[in-house]
Amino acid sequence: MNIAILTGSNRHAATSTQLAAIVGQLITQKGHTVMLHDLFEHPLPFYSPDGIDHDHAAVQQLQQSMLKADGIVLATPEYHGSVSGVLKNALDYLGQDHFRGKAVLSMCSSGGAVGTSSLLQLQAIVRNLHGVNAPEWVSVGGAQRNELAHGLTEYENGGQPIIDRIHRATISFLALAASVRANE
Ligand SMILES: Cc1cc2nc3c(=O)[nH]c(=O)nc-3n(C[C@H](O)[C@H](O)[C@H](O)COP(=O)(O)O)c2cc1C
Repeated sequence: MNIAILTGSNRHAATSTQLAAIVGQLITQKGHTVMLHDLFEHPLPFYSPDGIDHDHAAVQQLQQSMLKADGIVLATPEYHGSVSGVLKNALDYLGQDHFRGKAVLSMCSSGGAVGTSSLLQLQAIVRNLHGVNAPEWVSVGGAQRNELAHGLTEYENGGQPIIDRIHRATISFLALAASVRANE
């Protein structure tokens, strides 16, 4: 399958982007193709309903990846109990054509222990785009965020509970993506 990952931070070394990279590695290890759109590396102009900048190269690239995707992963930092502005801006360039009937895994990095507020809001956006919310989500918060910098290598050499959870959510998301794709 083709899996698109959209990272919702424009901060250098963002932990939500580290989380997305780990999930991308796991998905690749399972034999799937990952298309990663990093909003730090490829920032988007402000969305305008008048169509200004809709031909911007990064906008076109994002839209094409999302159209091609069989499943989608969204990662956000928790900002004021919600998703980041740059992620919402990116999602405004997308519509039901990009999401309809596709499995979507929502993930969050928060300063507090859990970021369920942003995850609930992200799942509401996915529902409005007619995507299929994965039953599991990933929330990494507080000191757990430090473990993400170690990536997968250390996990494979001994295990970290947080990466174990990320692994289980990823497997469950891939199973859902394969299942809804088969029913198209
Ligand atoms: C503008 C702003 C708002 C934030 N609001 C919250 C919040 O409501 N709840 C929370 O737990 N953390 C909040 N934080 C902390 C971030 O969620 C936390 O630092 C997160 O790990 C950032 O993700 P990143 O490493 O991907 O940038 C906020 C940070 C910023 C910059």
